[in-house]
Amino acid sequence: MRTALCAELGIEHPVVGFTPSEHVAAAISRNGGLGVLGCVRFNDADELDAVLDWMDSNTGGRPYGVDVVMPSTVPTEGAPDDLTELIPPQHREFVDRTLRQLGVPELAEGERAGDGVLGWLHSVARSHVEVALRHPVSLIANALGSPPPDVIGQAHEHGLRVAALAGTAKHAQRHVDKGVDIVVAQGHEAGGHTGEIASMVLVPEVVDAVGDRVPVLAAGGIGSGRQVAAALALGASGAWTGSCWLTTSEYAMTTGDGAVQTALLGARSTDTVRTRIYTGKPARLLRTRWTEAWQQEDAPEPLPMPLQNLLVSEAHQRLTRAGDPDVVSMPIGQVVGRLNDVQPVSDVLAKMLREADETFERLAKIR
Ligand SMILES: Cc1cc2nc3c(=O)[nH]c(=O)nc-3n(C[C@H](O)[C@H](O)[C@H](O)COP(=O)(O)O)c2cc1C
Repeated sequence: MRTALCAELGIEHPVVGFTPSEHVAAAISRNGGLGVLGCVRFNDADELDAVLDWMDSNTGGRPYGVDVVMPSTVPTEGAPDDLTELIPPQHREFVDRTLRQLGVPELAEGERAGDGVLGWLHSVARSHVEVALRHPVSLIANALGSPPPDVIGQAHEHGLRVAALAGTAKHAQRHVDKGVDIVVAQGHEAGGHTGEIASMVLVPEVVDAVGDRVPVLAAGGIGSGRQVAAALALGASGAWTGSCWLTTSEYAMTTGDGAVQTALLGARSTDTVRTRIYTGKPARLLRTRWTEAWQQEDAPEPLPMPLQNLLVSEAHQRLTRAGDPDVVSMPIGQVVGRLNDVQPVSDVLAKMLREADETFERLAKIR
């Protein structure tokens, strides 16, 4: 299965895998797809630099990409300490009360509460771009809007392709008008930040809007070969995937956090919820006792980005430490219902490609 995207990105298969794990990203690239490493978790640019050094030695010389988050509506910039002053005390009380009710232990004595995710502040995301440009990265993707014009210009000067996620045809047109090279049409069923239009409706709309100018990748709800084939049938040049890599053995190597995989393996496709509680913008998460607490009548409205994540950042640390699958806080798409065992990346990709080929053969017999 080869499309024009394969030649454009120098990859064997038109499957791009977004992942927060360098182990997963490198394995996707080594196996002929394009691994795209999510950078938002790196508050420290030097740490990202070291991880990209590791990627450079572990992708077997194959192309890989990075993903940064530069929201088009710029969240308040400032030191975390200043920003946290903007968090209302009632919100903090709700979080403390909920964690107590869920039986989530305090941090260990002497353990420092982290700063939360700061990667969506433009200053931090720009430091990610600067680091990425020092490595042999082939693609830089942006979530939550078009990257600023100077970032697109810098990437092009270094020979990188620029991709951006779009939840509507209008977003896609705006991206292409600003110089974006690849549009990722991401449907409602996707994990993480997501819009309101389902992939089945969105992908052909985006293809019709911009497909004559740039390649369009379909995202949201793709975890199998039949879904990859469907993406191509809808006019996409390839698939952009995220959720299906979270139950790989390589993902377990990055987090060492068994509770998340246990929770994902047991979840059905109805066990997700689109909510603002993770970052302040709508994102699809696994439904757990933590997300349900935020749906109770006494729960406050989530705060805007970036305050909401600062509010819940220590809670996320504690929920992770708790090691309890019933309370994890984890972005995941509706394909979670089909993620029922832990497999290496190579097996997930091979099965996807085999099933896509079988689908094309089956469809070729239909007239
Ligand atoms: C755990 C997780 C974290 C994500 N974080 C980001 C991110 O930081 N930047 C981004 O562009 N997309 C992010 N996404 C969305 C993915 O890039 C991708 O569009 C989405 O997972 C595709 O839908 P699927 O989950 O149905 O495969 C995330 C998705 C998941 C599951």
